[in-house]
Amino acid sequence: MELEPTDIRAAAIAAIQAADSVDAIEEIRIKYLGRKGSLTLLLRSLGNIPAEQRAAAGKRANEFKNEIESALEQKKYELTSTAARDLLRAQWIDVTLDCATATQREDLGRLHPISQIQYEIEDIFASMGFEILDGPEVETDYYNFEALNMPRHHPARDMQDTFWTEDGNLLRTHTSAIQIRGMEKVIPPFRIVGPGRVFRYESTDASHENTFYQVEGMMVDRDINVAHLIFVMKQLLKEIFQREAVVRLRPGYFPFVEPGFELDIQCLICNGAGCSVCRQSGWVELLPCGLVHPNVLRMGGIDPKEWSGFAFGLGLNRLVMMKYGINDIRHFLSGDIRFLRQF
Ligand code: DAH
Repeated sequence: MELEPTDIRAAAIAAIQAADSVDAIEEIRIKYLGRKGSLTLLLRSLGNIPAEQRAAAGKRANEFKNEIESALEQKKYELTSTAARDLLRAQWIDVTLDCATATQREDLGRLHPISQIQYEIEDIFASMGFEILDGPEVETDYYNFEALNMPRHHPARDMQDTFWTEDGNLLRTHTSAIQIRGMEKVIPPFRIVGPGRVFRYESTDASHENTFYQVEGMMVDRDINVAHLIFVMKQLLKEIFQREAVVRLRPGYFPFVEPGFELDIQCLICNGAGCSVCRQSGWVELLPCGLVHPNVLRMGGIDPKEWSGFAFGLGLNRLVMMKYGINDIRHFLSGDIRFLRQF
């Protein structure tokens, strides 16, 4: 016996109401409205009934079809939104929650003052066309001493005793080793800076540490002279201290420069009048520098007849100490959170 349209409709609606998943809904759709679905077959068989009844029967069957379709849609929507709601309830994350509440914010990390000044200095040199290079903290004798015009038994080595490894390498005593590594990498003309951590065999006190930080700099071009060195240094100081710096050069000895200098900056506290910071001299020693020794250029494969250059080694600890009035270098690596929180 053929099913009545009303029976089909009632069965479909009941099934839809009982459905508990989107898959079940799809099965019901196929069962009634699919290509071989019972309502589809019924609609297709309308041609067999007498013409007078056909229009009314067709209209009714189509109404049932629409009704079933919208019941399916409605149920599907309900089921998917409950599924989404269940998921939300089970895996709830409030993305608007401010996790940095007052107490937690205290615990957020920050950059060490040495890193801060290092990045600042890198930016300043990068803006002047310097490339930033790196080098290893465990160095060979060659890069740390030999190639810097300090052959074995050179007395200047005594100033920079350090920690040696059993296989004859050492913890670098200065970033000057980066000069040699740099010359092997880039061809002149060039400008490079090399920041890094350095080590000395040192008994520690308020101004001596066995581990500290430097930024090495080197510029090689044709006819480089002391005026270029002074210009770049003044530019650097102007950026760091945000004001014009007055500098002076005193002779200083380093085997890898000739002539070599100590660059002093006029005391920023008393403007040269004399105070406790500059020990009444009006000047503060800032960095050693000089014109690159021809032997060093040769070691780097550069012809000193064609090229010349300047170099400098800037101590970062001292700079930060001056900037913030820190009186003991040992604070930097103390790991004391009370010290670090101030920056
Ligand atoms: N490397 C030296 C030191 O740590 C500092 C230095 C002096 C670096 C003169 C230079 C320089 O580049 O030209 O004591």
